[in-house]
Amino acid sequence: ARPDALPRDLDGVRVVVSAGGTREPLDPVRHLGNRSSGKQGYALARVAAQRGAHVTLVTAHTDALPEPAGTEVVPVSTARQLAEAVESAAAGADVVVMAAAVADFRPVNTAEHKIKKTDHTPDPTITLTRNPDILAGLVERRRDGQIIVGFAAETGDETGSVLDHARAKLKRKGCDLLVVNAVGEGKAFEVEENTGWLLSAEGLEQRIPLGAKAQLAATLWDAVTALLRRRSH
Ligand code: CTP
Ligand code: CA
Repeated sequence: ARPDALPRDLDGVRVVVSAGGTREPLDPVRHLGNRSSGKQGYALARVAAQRGAHVTLVTAHTDALPEPAGTEVVPVSTARQLAEAVESAAAGADVVVMAAAVADFRPVNTAEHKIKKTDHTPDPTITLTRNPDILAGLVERRRDGQIIVGFAAETGDETGSVLDHARAKLKRKGCDLLVVNAVGEGKAFEVEENTGWLLSAEGLEQRIPLGAKAQLAATLWDAVTALLRRRSH
């Protein structure tokens, strides 16, 4: 869409978007990471800025992506750094969107020097510990009227469908909106297109049609502006 065709319905709204995948270091040259490209988070930040929002983009590791115009970019690496940056930006925000792929666990120990093959007989074991749940922390400390959005990638399994898992996660996380990507072969990771559902705490369940990540971003910001409008009345 041409920029002048976009609504300016986020004028002056303060938005924080997290994007990309965190890296949890094992030693100076190795880490545990994930396959997040950062494209969805960057599209969310770009579209919000085009619609008039003040955007802080807290970004972990991504593919080579252009900085979204008109946003303040805060680069981080680990889950704990992401937590600190998001929490500090969230203190003054109307909307927080957690699109980052946050590592659930990190190695207990990070070696100061490169680990050598010969350091370990027998072969080493990596012991992990849990990272903070940033989204849960945001919900706990939510400002009056603040809107908090989570993202989840789900597959169906023997205990339930993608949508079943999504409903349970929305309840567990306590956020206002949850975007759920159905993942499987060739979906969501490292591709231009996403498909899934947008669920709200109020019970809305919107199927998000297959489309570009900018389209998913537009759908999410439409839902956010609808919530903002209702809260200001
Ligand atoms: N998230 C977070 N902090 C974490 C892990 C996840 O803030 N330590 C956020 C993600 O950014 C996302 C949402 O929580 O917006 C859901 O992430 P997901 O990994 O699906 O949820 P988990 O509770 O970690 O559940 P799972 O066991 O399925 O990984
Ligand atoms: Ca997780």
